[in-house]
Amino acid sequence: MEQEKLYQLMNSLTLKEKIGQLIQLSGDFFGNDNISTGPIEELGIDNEMIQYTGSILNVSGAKNTIKIQKEYLAQSRHKIPLLFMNDVVYGYRTILPIPLGQGATWNPNLIRNGYEHISKEASKAGVHVTFSPMVDLVRDPRWGRCLESTGEDPYLNSQFAKAVVEGFQGDLNHNQLASCVKHFAAYGAAEAGRDYNTVDMSERRLRQDYLPAYHAALEAGAKMVMTSFNTIDGIPATANKWLMKDILRDEWGFDGVLITDYAAIKELIAHGVAVDDAHASQLALEAGVDIDMKTACYANQLQPLLKEGRISLELIDQAVWRVLTLKNDLGLFENPYRGADLNEENYMRTSDAREIALQASREALVLLKNNNNLLPLDFKTQKIAFIGPYVDSKFLTGLWAINGKTEEIASIKDVVISMDAPHVTFTKGCDYLDDYSKLGKFGEFVSNFKINTDDEIKKDLQEAIIIAKESDIIVLALGEHMLESGEAGSRTQLGLPEIQQCLLNEISQLGKPIVLVLFNGRPLVLTEIENKVDAILEAWFPGSEGAQAIVDILNGTYNPSGRLSMSFPYTVGQIPIYYNSFNTGRPVAVHDDNNRFASQFLDAPNTPLYPFGFGLSYSQFSYNNLKLSSNILSIGSPITISVNITNTSSIAGTETVQLYVRDLVSSVVRPVKELINFEKIFLKGGECKTVTFILTEKDLRFINKDMFYQFEEGVFQIFVGHSSQEYLSSQFTLIKH
Ligand code: GLC
Repeated sequence: MEQEKLYQLMNSLTLKEKIGQLIQLSGDFFGNDNISTGPIEELGIDNEMIQYTGSILNVSGAKNTIKIQKEYLAQSRHKIPLLFMNDVVYGYRTILPIPLGQGATWNPNLIRNGYEHISKEASKAGVHVTFSPMVDLVRDPRWGRCLESTGEDPYLNSQFAKAVVEGFQGDLNHNQLASCVKHFAAYGAAEAGRDYNTVDMSERRLRQDYLPAYHAALEAGAKMVMTSFNTIDGIPATANKWLMKDILRDEWGFDGVLITDYAAIKELIAHGVAVDDAHASQLALEAGVDIDMKTACYANQLQPLLKEGRISLELIDQAVWRVLTLKNDLGLFENPYRGADLNEENYMRTSDAREIALQASREALVLLKNNNNLLPLDFKTQKIAFIGPYVDSKFLTGLWAINGKTEEIASIKDVVISMDAPHVTFTKGCDYLDDYSKLGKFGEFVSNFKINTDDEIKKDLQEAIIIAKESDIIVLALGEHMLESGEAGSRTQLGLPEIQQCLLNEISQLGKPIVLVLFNGRPLVLTEIENKVDAILEAWFPGSEGAQAIVDILNGTYNPSGRLSMSFPYTVGQIPIYYNSFNTGRPVAVHDDNNRFASQFLDAPNTPLYPFGFGLSYSQFSYNNLKLSSNILSIGSPITISVNITNTSSIAGTETVQLYVRDLVSSVVRPVKELINFEKIFLKGGECKTVTFILTEKDLRFINKDMFYQFEEGVFQIFVGHSSQEYLSSQFTLIKH
């Protein structure tokens, strides 16, 4: 629709019809099942306002969306179509590995391709907008939503933010999904990793570390932004004019739609910045919030606020205009049933989509340990006992795969029994947890709330010990329950569930080689169990094709290439722990008993158990011949960094060459290391390749003491290597001219 006509349409709306465009309700208001992704409560919206609603949350399926749209338009005076928005976070019916696993692929191009397929599936189901990517940087694995993040690094997160938006949106001319980047901003820095908790940091840290990935998503064209639940500098994001107007709209020039997170406007009262719904609505509208998700605030308060002169019609019109523009950009006025296809099943889980998802799962898996090259296994000849609650589990997709169908997920057992593996046995050994009550009511929904009796626990364990004794090798498939991570999944203890720890301890007494395959939505603390097993494969929640990917690595079909995008702590007490930290005035690289007065712990190392960028391969890679084209870098005279990588093994494999930099002296302290580039290369056995990186002054900019984003002259170190802790290093000097 032309702008002029759209403008006339907006001006033809009554006030209530305008306000309706700023409301988002869930499917139960329209006779559809409701997938609840937040607290459930009576909203108190009258029917008239329900009929004016502008968008619907988490309804999908062409039949549902077409029916609701048809009925809505039939009773609508203005005929403005509904927007269907959905948490298609990392999959629809084809499910990618969780984003923390996607980060470990270090392969944004592959992930972009994966999201192209997901976008097509969800679009055929009638979805218009997805609440993804979630790009919250996170350095605290106590926070359950690590699951949805690509990790602790601003640069890597920005690469993936761009890739996901491009994957979802494409050119938006082929019914692709509009992308909503979330949660703006810095939600991942919740104090103590406790979800929804306070976030408080300097503007410098916010801009330097936490904001870049949101900006990258918007640079890639994301059409929408979602506010976060947390405060920033004492003001909740949803009412934070500095964040939403000064930065997002004025500084970054974002003129798209700003939606709140679930019920976040009403939560301004609980935060203590709003006295009631009216006050909360006024604050949110003044901060630039366009759509009120799942409260009655805008629906019931904007009209009286306007009447009392507490808000202006101009603010309402600006918000309505942005919503109508989004609907127009998506072509909804021409085709309100955009994308929806009653033959949607023909487009779900296509072989192409599953192949990409399988490859993404393969590349997401991280080999953390492989003593004596225990892996890969030979399924044809070795007697292998698969033991653990995840051996025959279909819960492999994590908490935010809300549109997936569990029955479509293959378990490890499903995959193995379809292979030529004559000497393989299976048993669960124990349940995921011994007590589901801590998962709350939600836990009842997923875990059918079954508590094993002592006899059942003993029986499971005995069965496990019997098959373990009869095997050559044991594969333990253990991990967090799916509900122990994700939203509202914060934990203070980050080891394996107790009942699984007991199983592992018992099995490890048998003195047989053990491979541990881990399922988790966050970095776990593995220090207690690391020395009880011979190999560890980190599988995250690996997605709908995850079981196949795991088996492909266990039997050597795929040589593991994953590299951690978030540190695994040695102990919870170290948290927050991340590689790109500051040196402090009393640095200590390794614990020094002779020097008490250094920045260290009395009872733990400063280093994580597994660092950022770490991951093993079945191949061996050696780095040598690090060269700089010059040891002076200046504006217009970039330097080329080159290094040779040799696969010294006979097994072809993939290495992710990582380039870090350190600014030794600046007007503000700078991290001891910062990732600024990487390249993933494939090397045949014995093959050597030279990787080159071009470094310019632009790569070296930061937020300086005057809050300007620019570089400063001085000496820099560079590190090129296999991880943030294994590298070759050199240095150069940056001068302006
Ligand atoms: C949830 C989540 C957000 C999600 C939204 C809609 O509370 O915080 O990520 O997109 O509500 O379901």
